[in-house]
Amino acid sequence: MQLKSKVDVLLGLQWGDEGKGKVVDVLTPRYDVIARFQGGPNAGHTLEFNGMKHVLHIIPSGIFHPDKLNVIGNGVLIEPAILSQEVEALRGRQVDATRNLYISKKAHLILPSHRLLDAANEQAKGNAKIGSTLKGIGPAYTDKIARTGLRVGDTLEFDFGEKYELLKLQHLQMVQTLGFDTASFRIDGMTLEDYERRWMESLQLLRSFHLINSEYFINDCLRQGKRVLAEGAQGSMLDIDFGSYPFVTSSSTVTAGVCSGLGVAPSAIGRVMGITKAYCTRVGAGPFPTELFDDTGRRLCELGHEYGATTGRSRRCGWIDLPALRYACMLNGVTDLIVTKPDVMNDFEEVLMCDSYEIGGRCTDELPFEFNAVEITPRWVSYPGWKQSLAGIDSYSRLPQPLLRYLEAIEQAVQTPVMAVSTSPDRKDVLFK
Ligand code: IMP
Repeated sequence: MQLKSKVDVLLGLQWGDEGKGKVVDVLTPRYDVIARFQGGPNAGHTLEFNGMKHVLHIIPSGIFHPDKLNVIGNGVLIEPAILSQEVEALRGRQVDATRNLYISKKAHLILPSHRLLDAANEQAKGNAKIGSTLKGIGPAYTDKIARTGLRVGDTLEFDFGEKYELLKLQHLQMVQTLGFDTASFRIDGMTLEDYERRWMESLQLLRSFHLINSEYFINDCLRQGKRVLAEGAQGSMLDIDFGSYPFVTSSSTVTAGVCSGLGVAPSAIGRVMGITKAYCTRVGAGPFPTELFDDTGRRLCELGHEYGATTGRSRRCGWIDLPALRYACMLNGVTDLIVTKPDVMNDFEEVLMCDSYEIGGRCTDELPFEFNAVEITPRWVSYPGWKQSLAGIDSYSRLPQPLLRYLEAIEQAVQTPVMAVSTSPDRKDVLFK
């Protein structure tokens, strides 16, 4: 099949929260279609412009551009009540999402009982909790793989209610086996029954969207030469296969996920833009070799406002981890790097990078299989800080010399060019090289 254009990809190279929402919003004018390919309401993509801040969970970050089309692909999980809240919040900003958002009929649904099961599973793990966002992601993807899930297209069928009740019953049985207290369980302060009512009501809104076979739609766009941007959620180090398993999310967060989550061939992938913070954060449990437990870590958290956009939890902070970044670039075939939040380190005397790991007295660049079990000592390289504000700097070449050297060091370490740097949360502060 002759395609006139390819799908460009934008995804996170760390443990999520790299600033994808903002960058997609900035890149959107270059594209015709913005498509989400995996994840669900566990994501929180923050956009800031004209003094306004907005967080999106399921809806692609191109929604603020009325002339662009947004697609939720088959690889995404939809929680109808959360989608409905998001649509309402957008209405409050004079954005009508039903106009330019298309949804795949093959996208799977998160039921209220998936959220119950998520909470029960986490509780049953005791000290081994993953730190899930508790949006039902794990249980809903489990049903998808087990071939017991319900999809958006199923809501149009006459027997949807029956199928729903059957699946819910299975979930309730599992929850009972786990000894979880269902009676005191609340979602947004509501009992399961009350929340279920809201969830059912929101199906009406879901059905009012353009429900499509998004794989045909996206490939038609490519045949016509339309420019498509695939927007990733979470980050490569949370990938179900390559992340720090089991402390991961349940989807393919890497470029390969674009093919299965949108229905495009590997040969239809164009540029792969990978986002990394100038330092590193992680929310939830799991290994984090460069984590700082000292004042510097606390400063990164405070200055970077490192609190989860979905759960409000404070993020763990540390220096940039080059072995992990190289790994992510390799897995994704990153062609361009985008570095966010160097401004958080404006006052630092020195900034460190972890260049390699020391494990059992041996130096290595490879993330070990036993990532969760072995003690990893980072080998640091120090760079002088830039000790100045980046506010008002309007071109890449005018960035302070020490920061330019720091960025060059990242480029060399991962053998990938930096395409742009973001120097504030505002959409206007993205400096292209
Ligand atoms: P779940 O995907 O909600 O089950 O969460 C699994 C793990 O991924 C937890 O450690 C979460 O904190 C983390 N996680 C999920 N989504 C995001 C995200 O969008 N940003 C950062 N971490 C995330």
